[in-house]
Amino acid sequence: MLDDAQLREYHDAGFLVVPDVLTPRDLAGLRDEVERLYRADHPGRVLEKDGTTIRGVHGCHQVSEVFSRLVRLPALLMPAEQLLASKVYVHQSKVNAKRALAGDVWPWHQDYIFWEREDGMPAPLVTNVALLLDDATPYNGPLLFLPGSHHMGTLPTERRGAAGGEESWKSNLAADLDYALTAGQLASMVARFGMRAATGSAGSMVLFDPRLVHGSGTNMSPYDRQLLIITYNSVDNVPDEPSRRPEFLSASDTTPLAPLVGGLWS
Ligand code: SIN
Ligand code: MN
Repeated sequence: MLDDAQLREYHDAGFLVVPDVLTPRDLAGLRDEVERLYRADHPGRVLEKDGTTIRGVHGCHQVSEVFSRLVRLPALLMPAEQLLASKVYVHQSKVNAKRALAGDVWPWHQDYIFWEREDGMPAPLVTNVALLLDDATPYNGPLLFLPGSHHMGTLPTERRGAAGGEESWKSNLAADLDYALTAGQLASMVARFGMRAATGSAGSMVLFDPRLVHGSGTNMSPYDRQLLIITYNSVDNVPDEPSRRPEFLSASDTTPLAPLVGGLWS
């Protein structure tokens, strides 16, 4: 569970980095599992613009036994329940690969606008629990946050691509992201809030608010920057209608998660 100082930091800054959450064994096993998912034939697998480099895999908990246990690991599940003051389920799970010398940008954005507009999620009663699968350094495209920007609520942002087409969800995952902030919005937000990089060692956990403005640059380093993100939604905040997006972006199984008993590999 998070202590009072950690809860205050999450609420004030909109994010919190907790080091050493994964054991070395769990970290190594998860990295192996992620490499397996990168190679597997799965619709939630997305490539970079070069058409060959893996950008990410989505819906991991739906296709991997290991991930279906990971999302129930008390070290991740308990803080999510504590922050949302309710039972939770997984709305999304993904790994962004951000490969060495090839990983592309995530433009500045807020997450909740996607879940509200695309999936019909009623309120921002939802949180991101991310795990660093590699060391995140200033050089390999770490997550960048505008601390405190979640207090602004959802910023007025227009969808860039046309909504509703068969494959329109693809622009929710690409380097030219829908609902990205404009340069003008960003300049005034940065003047007000500043910027922080979520650097840390592999195995750390990063919790962040769904309205926090964030993004990340290209990976200019010879080291990968893999980031695993589990989005837990409150069971009191289930969308009324099924999403028009694929299952791997908006899970329909809203059963409250029970904490895992035993380890990830049992
Ligand atoms: C995200 O916004 O979901 C991920 C950004 C990143 O992987 O850097
Ligand atoms: Mn995001």
